[in-house]
Amino acid sequence: MTDRLTIRQPDDWHLHLRDGAMLRAVLKYTALQFGRAIVMPNLRPPVIDAARARSYRDEIRAALPPAFAGAGPGSKFEPLMTAYLTDSTDPDQLEDEIFTAAKLYPAHATTNSAHGVTDVAKIRPALERMEKIGLPLLVHGEVTDHEIDVFDREAVFLDRVLTPLRRDHPGLKIVLEHVTTREGVDWVRAAEGPTAGTITAHHLLIDRNAMLVGGIRPHMYCLPVAKRATHRVALLEAATSGDGKFFLGTDSAPHPISDKESACGCAGIFTAPNAIELYAEAFDQTGRLDRLEEFASLAGPRFYGLPVNQTRVTLVRGEAKVPARIDVSDEKAVHPFRGGETVAWRLEFA
Ligand code: NCD
Ligand code: ZN
Repeated sequence: MTDRLTIRQPDDWHLHLRDGAMLRAVLKYTALQFGRAIVMPNLRPPVIDAARARSYRDEIRAALPPAFAGAGPGSKFEPLMTAYLTDSTDPDQLEDEIFTAAKLYPAHATTNSAHGVTDVAKIRPALERMEKIGLPLLVHGEVTDHEIDVFDREAVFLDRVLTPLRRDHPGLKIVLEHVTTREGVDWVRAAEGPTAGTITAHHLLIDRNAMLVGGIRPHMYCLPVAKRATHRVALLEAATSGDGKFFLGTDSAPHPISDKESACGCAGIFTAPNAIELYAEAFDQTGRLDRLEEFASLAGPRFYGLPVNQTRVTLVRGEAKVPARIDVSDEKAVHPFRGGETVAWRLEFA
């Protein structure tokens, strides 16, 4: 049994950092673990142009704790910025060097997506430009039609939207984010052209029972929603297969406890404090810890055409406690995934 695992420092290819007090409360967790993170643009208001992306990146850099200055853990963290696509995105904005990728939120699919795209036909000029300049398209892959069951929304999106989009833009880099279904895994595997899928730690560890059995558990609710157990098995197979089309994206999405524990609780699971340890647990479940580095640290940079991180981190087997709450301000706190419980690994810093 492997009890210690040293890997190149991982990157998080899908992360919500928020802004203001929430950003200041959560950033350090990601900065300690990951070399880089693709930062989602679904703020209020959303990050729709280069000027806003630049000021958001400045805000993130300024929110790093002073202790992270210098050469220690967290000091090299690099936020990679994304553009929030809207029906009226100016393709010229996407040429700005600030952007590492652009994000397609179908309008009203998830948190802060009201300004998202109402019809892919409206962003043709943006997609053509992205294809030309090599800017990856990151996709929240769910339809929003009311008549489609929430558990089917990913699979229907693949048929109705992503398959034609893939065909119409053969050179476009496409990432199907937070894949949650066997259909999603199969779609990524079969897709031609530069195609990848990110997988969250929580979708590798929980199925919908975790959310609905023994009471409704708002901290297990996210979008796309966790599916039945057979889909979790497909995700585990994909993540641990060594197929570089699949790589790490936590979709860590902090919300105040008061917004989650509500009659209409919002979507998002906050995994940042123990993200790589949770992935290690999942890989260990399948006896494939040897494939964690490919998934967490190598496949992502390869897809994005970026260098791999030079530093290494070590995971050590052993129970570590997860705090039940992390304070954001005097009134607000967030509840991390596994909060009040334990994870089976801890991260050791050299
Ligand atoms: C995300 C959020 O809170 O911003 N929520 C979530 O459940 N994943 C949005 C998203 O990525 O869908
Ligand atoms: Zn997300």
